[in-house]
This record gives sequence, structure tokens and C-alpha cells, in this order.
Amino acid sequence: MGKKGALLLCLLVLMVAMDGAIASHKWRPFNRSCFPPGFIFGAGSAAYQIEGAALEDGKGPSVWDILVRKHPERIVDRSTGDVAVDFYHRYKEDIMLMKKIGLDSFRFSISWTRILPTGKLSGGINRLGVQFYNNLIDDLLANGLKPFVTLLHFDHPQALEDEYGGFSSPKIVFMDPVIYGEYPKSMQSLVGNRLPKFTEAESKLLKGSIDFLGANYYTTNYAENGPSNTPFLPTDAGVNLTTEKNGVPIGTPTDVSWLFNYPKGLRDLLLYLKKKYNSPTIYITENAKNASLTVKEALKDSTRIRYLDGHLKCLLKAIQEGVNMKGHYMWAFLDDFEWTSGYTLRFGFTYTDYKNNLRRYLKYSAYWFKKFLLN
Ligand SMILES: *[C@@H]1O[C@H](CO)[C@@H](O)[C@H](O)[C@H]1NC(C)=O
Ligand SMILES: *[C@@H]1O[C@H](CO)[C@@H](O)[C@H](O)[C@H]1NC(C)=O
Ligand SMILES: *[C@@H]1O[C@H](CO)[C@@H](O)[C@H](O)[C@H]1NC(C)=O
Repeated sequence: MGKKGALLLCLLVLMVAMDGAIASHKWRPFNRSCFPPGFIFGAGSAAYQIEGAALEDGKGPSVWDILVRKHPERIVDRSTGDVAVDFYHRYKEDIMLMKKIGLDSFRFSISWTRILPTGKLSGGINRLGVQFYNNLIDDLLANGLKPFVTLLHFDHPQALEDEYGGFSSPKIVFMDPVIYGEYPKSMQSLVGNRLPKFTEAESKLLKGSIDFLGANYYTTNYAENGPSNTPFLPTDAGVNLTTEKNGVPIGTPTDVSWLFNYPKGLRDLLLYLKKKYNSPTIYITENAKNASLTVKEALKDSTRIRYLDGHLKCLLKAIQEGVNMKGHYMWAFLDDFEWTSGYTLRFGFTYTDYKNNLRRYLKYSAYWFKKFLLN
């Protein structure tokens, strides 16, 4: 090795040592006490993905009940949510697990067709459906968990059956209407007369109509100019989304092709929302990474712990930079029916053993989170 090489090596060693010293000097335990008091930590779910009891106790078929029957080929493992993880019958047991971790809150949705089996008020309200959600809410409250309810439009029986194909499109286009009362100018000119126009009264109703924003964050994409002027939703924006630039991926690859672990993207998104939409109150309503398929591997979900740790640290940075954050929900509390991916994705804190009577096991990430929450 020449002199130059040695010097460079020395310098590198010195830099590494200094870096270590700085890091150890700065290192402090990272736990919920670093967040503002009252900040909510929870985990989420959605009715069709967990409940099962698809046609029980007077429930009518939802758009997903119909879709999985008419088009089994659209679900990779040709499965359905008929039984899912049977939360409908096991919610009490599951609430005990939430309590064991020490979650502050559980996010769930109401299946419209449990309440309105025919999708219309004139068809009558299903008392047993209302009772299920009342019991669920009561049991959450009795165990110190705050219920956070989401209404999913595509669970509604009157939603178009093929509309589900559009739900992965960027929902951020709805932000402008609810904050400013109209679609972004760029969107108006790109989509032209295919974009519905709000009447003045509608615009007034929409403007400033949200109490808070719920944002889902999984990963980030690079964007480049792409083809536009095709009368089709995904290409209207004229953007090509990619996960790598010059062959370098945007974050750490995971088991899922589109999902890269890139926590900084969460902070960037939150700062963007703060700036563009006048500091709204924000909850992160979903944030997740897939884990392994077998019990033995899945329980030791260290990459999921790394994902959660990284994202919570970036979330804290965003709060310190003035983003008005109130809570964070991991996706999901349980491994569940992941829409067109069926049961091939496992996002849960809780492993569900589909081969063994849906037995539940808390993953290491759940125990890590329990410690983070100081329980
Ligand atoms: C939680 O984090 C705070 C701040 O870093 C630290 O002072 C405290 O000791 C931690 N608590 C536990 C139980 O680790
Ligand atoms: C956008 O992506 C498509 C499909 O991957 C590719 O054919 C096209 O060249 C890209 N456009 C630009 C401008 O890079
Ligand atoms: C989720 O992760 C597991 C293993 O880590 C992998 O086998 C599976 O294919 C992943 N699911 C999808 C849909 O990519």
C-alpha cells in the first residue's frame, strides 16, 4: 500500500472512530417519552380484511364479497375474506393482545353491509350489525383503548365493482378540494373536461371541511416526466414513478417488489403537507412492511422492527420541525386478507396461523413496540 493509500485508510479509520464517538455521545434511549404527551400510538385494520362472518347475523354482501365470488382470479391465492382472521368472533381475545402490547388505540372500519344489508336506509338497519360495533367499541374502551373508526368507500355495496382497481392511485389529489375547495390547477388543465366540476355551493362545503388528515405511508418513489394526454387516470399526471435511479434503489429493498424501506420519505411527506396545506392536524393511519410466511421466521421480524424504528424516528423529526402530528398507526394489528394479494402478505404485529385454527402469536416487533411504549 502506498503512502497515499495508508493516509486515506488512517483518515477513514479516524472518521469512523469520530462518528462512533459522536453517535455514542448523542445516543439516548428512544421511546414514547421522546414524543409529545398525549401522542397516540396504535395499529389498524379494515372490516373485510379481518372480520370474516361474511354473511352472518344479517350482513348483506359488500362489493368485496361480490368481487371475490365473481372474479376469484383477481386474488393471487384465490382466497376470500369469508372467514379472514375471524375477528368478528375473536375480537375480545384480540383486544387482550392489544392491551398486552400497550397500544393506545385500535383503528378499524365499519362494514356498511353489516349495518345496511341492502345498502339503502329504506332496506332497514341490521340491529345485530350495530350491536357488534357497539360491543367492539365498549370492549375497547373498557380496556383503555381509543377506537378510531374509518369508513371505507369501496366496502359500500353501491361502489362500482371495478372501481377497486383505482384505489391504489394517489389520493393526495383529494387534498386540494377539502382544503381549498377545488382540484389543483395543474390537474384541471391536464384532465380537462373529464374532471367533474364543483358547483359554488359544493366548493364552499368542501373548503376547510376536514378536522384532520389521515395519511398512509409505506414507501417513496422517484418521479420523472412520463407520457400524458391519455384519457386514463394513472397517466393523467404525466409522471413515471420508479423505485430506482441510475440502478440505485431508493431505500432498502424488502420482500415486496414495490416496497422499499425509506423512512426519510415519511418526514419529507409530512413537511410537504404542512407547507402546502397550512399545517393540518395529521395522523399517520397506515405504515408497514411485509414479514415472512412461516411462524418460525415471521416471529423474528427484525427487519420490521428496523422499519418501525426508522419511521418513528423520522416522525419525531417532523414533529420537532413543527408538523402538527397527533398519532401513528402501524398496519396492521393482525396478519390479514390483503385484498388482491390474499393471504400472501403479512403486515401484522400478530402472526395468524391459517393452518392451525387461526391461532395468534405476537411477533418480536410487538414486543419491541411494547418496550418502546414503556410497558
Ligand atoms: C425513555 O427515553 C428517555 C429519553 O431518551 C430516557 O431518559 C428514559 O430513560 C427512557 N426510559 C426507558 C425506560 O428506557
Ligand atoms: C416511462 O416508463 C415507460 C415504461 O416503463 C418507459 O417506456 C418510458 O420510456 C418512460 N418515460 C420516460 C420519459 O422516461
Ligand atoms: C412477504 O414476505 C414473504 C417472506 O419474507 C415472502 O415470501 C412473500 O412473497 C412476501 N409477499 C409478497 C406478496 O411479496
